[in-house]
Amino acid sequence: MLACQRDAFDLPRDVCYLNAAAWGPLPRAVQEAGRAAVARKGQPWTLAGDFPASQHDRARRAAAALIGAEPRDVALISSVGYGVAIAGKVMAIPRGARVLVLQNDHTSPVLEWMGRAEAQGFTLDTVAQPADQDWTTAVLAAIARPGAPPLALASISSVHWSDGGALDLARIGAALKKAGAAFLIDATHDVGVRHIDVATLDPDFLIFPTYKWVLGPYGRAFAYVARRRQDGVPLEQTAFARRGVSAEDSVYFRDTRYHDDARRYDMGERDHFVSLEMAALGMEMMASWGQPEIEARLAMLTGRLAEGLGNLGLAIPDARHRAPHILSVGFPRSMPADFPQRLAAAKVYAAPRLGRLRISPHVYNDEADIERFVEVFRAALS
Ligand SMILES: Cc1ncc(COP(=O)(O)O)c(C=O)c1O
Repeated sequence: MLACQRDAFDLPRDVCYLNAAAWGPLPRAVQEAGRAAVARKGQPWTLAGDFPASQHDRARRAAAALIGAEPRDVALISSVGYGVAIAGKVMAIPRGARVLVLQNDHTSPVLEWMGRAEAQGFTLDTVAQPADQDWTTAVLAAIARPGAPPLALASISSVHWSDGGALDLARIGAALKKAGAAFLIDATHDVGVRHIDVATLDPDFLIFPTYKWVLGPYGRAFAYVARRRQDGVPLEQTAFARRGVSAEDSVYFRDTRYHDDARRYDMGERDHFVSLEMAALGMEMMASWGQPEIEARLAMLTGRLAEGLGNLGLAIPDARHRAPHILSVGFPRSMPADFPQRLAAAKVYAAPRLGRLRISPHVYNDEADIERFVEVFRAALS
């Protein structure tokens, strides 16, 4: 199990921050890299000629390493919504088919299809939030539902952002393949913490941002795109998506064919090197700590939390169905309206999400944080 990494962060001892699922704090080294990168932007003449390519490669490699991908299958994008919009443009959902989504899933993997359904003649099939939080069983049942229209795609989060339910991607992926359906995974609350290997999972798209669990800035996200989806028209038309359009050439539009890898989907203005380097470093730090070690630490912390909050009449999800790093608790009647503020008054931070309190520790938290959280939570409730 990974040791506590608090020293790598700018986190005062009296702050009990259990809200990584909202915003991961930037490690000190990532902040420093950001400051140095801003200074570099102040002196662009100092940049070596190969600097842009080396930055793109570094970020692509760091993202790929967290998900078992090859760097050439990863696109540099700005947000999960951007990645889903690429999928919306690239994948033709047949008329009369259905697209599976999760009830109350985050907007990013849902709204793209909601917006397209009527015009393209397909329907959304929404898997209801199961009372026991066993999303996997609910999704498998929806995939195989007799009499339902043919399934074209499941566009779902792998960990539900509000209740912390963890989906078994291998089982769902296998069922989708059997049904001949495509798989888009919003892995926002997964990458870096649970094991993900796109080489065995073989989804069509797997997308994640950096600003939560992988300790990077806003405005940076990554999309794994399966090779069978690398022949589409990108969202934006850029020179660098093409094989031979270069300002330094004497002929500008020399070869306008797209690259035959995921680079064709890279976002416009990908050369925001300040955020790109910060994103790369955050992901490299996660990789250096090791996914199983991180997962073990966070499972230990949420286990202690579940124990400490155990006899308060709260709805605490079963460890079998919840993510190792998120504990989202329901209240017997309802959460007092100012409950998060009561916690924050004691410098204890967690997020109200759809009536629950979502508690999400990361590698900077320790047992003392958990004890403090439980103590302040109990006091705030009474
Ligand atoms: C499941 C999930 N997906 C995506 C996002 C962020 O989406 P985007 O990068 O499109 O802003 C969030 C943010 O809370 C999320 O919880």
